[in-house]
Amino acid sequence: MTDKKRLLSGVKPTGRPHIGNYLGAMKQFVNLEDSHESFFMIANYHALTTLHNSDELKENTIDVALDYLAIGLDPEKSVIFMQSQVPEHTELAWIFNCITTMPYLMRAHAFKDAEAKNKEVSVGTFDYPMLMATDILIYDPDIVPVGQDQKQHVEFARDTASKFNRIFGETFKLPEVQIQEEVAVVPGIDGQKMSKSYNNTISLFASDDELRSSVMNIVTDSKGEGESKDPETSNLFTLHKHFSGDKLQDLEKRYRDGSIGYKESKEILYEDIKSIVAPLRERRENLKNDIGSVHSILKNGGEKAREYASKKMDEVRKKVGVSLE
Ligand code: ADP
Ligand code: TRP
Repeated sequence: MTDKKRLLSGVKPTGRPHIGNYLGAMKQFVNLEDSHESFFMIANYHALTTLHNSDELKENTIDVALDYLAIGLDPEKSVIFMQSQVPEHTELAWIFNCITTMPYLMRAHAFKDAEAKNKEVSVGTFDYPMLMATDILIYDPDIVPVGQDQKQHVEFARDTASKFNRIFGETFKLPEVQIQEEVAVVPGIDGQKMSKSYNNTISLFASDDELRSSVMNIVTDSKGEGESKDPETSNLFTLHKHFSGDKLQDLEKRYRDGSIGYKESKEILYEDIKSIVAPLRERRENLKNDIGSVHSILKNGGEKAREYASKKMDEVRKKVGVSLE
């Protein structure tokens, strides 16, 4: 045991990560892993709510493990594991289901969005927040670092912990959500929130050509070179804020005085993003050549995670009365 605060977060293996995922969530993981006892999960049961193809799910799962390692997470310091390696998560989800009401889960943004779009909603999608509550609560973390759109899910976990504690006695710690405000919502190339669902992403591990083409496709207004541009409202400029560091003041001045055109601004942004992502991409390529060690990192991580979760579940089973001890 250590006296460090504990952290848990997760990523759903449903496709290539984009720079919104990286800045909004994954980059924080690396910054926090030294100061926290950290658990990083691959939420493969959550992916199953939308992905029904075993080869694809397996491939995406390894991809997230590679992503975690490529961004710099260190399996010597952190527990990196798959949700499915710890069946106690799904077991606890059933118990949470039995103390949660339908109207409460109907308030979830993800459910409401799916309903609004007239999508067919599976029971798993409806219940998504309860499984996520178990992912979190079973490890008693102090903080859960995520992007803005996961805030409600962490609140659901806190509510569920309180409710359980009220009914069965003090069992779960209430975790704090941790959101980095300045990267809470990274815009996509069309100016909406960057998201896989909107097809407006810049992939984190894109090749140079793909990266260039995504950046060149960023939507701007029609102001030409020589015309003053408003950095406050430009999503291209917002991306500069995340990637262009020292150059930012000069860029802002040039936006305002009109001495920069969007084409040049995009060329600069492309180079700046490339300089940050290229080393991550290279590390990922190297790791890919050694998939055996990725498998053993997961095996190890799964065992460590399960050790925690199974102790907690022993306590929970006793508290609710499904264990006769
Ligand atoms: P997507 O919307 O592309 O499907 P996910 O829902 O899988 O992304 O999000 C994974 C993580 O990345 C979450 O913690 C989420 O809050 C964060 N995230 C996703 N998109 C953005 C964004 N545009 N800006 C900041 N954080 C984001
Ligand atoms: N729902 C999260 C997402 O879509 C992934 C996730 C699953 C998660 N379980 C978690 C995140 C537990 C933090 C903690 O991004």
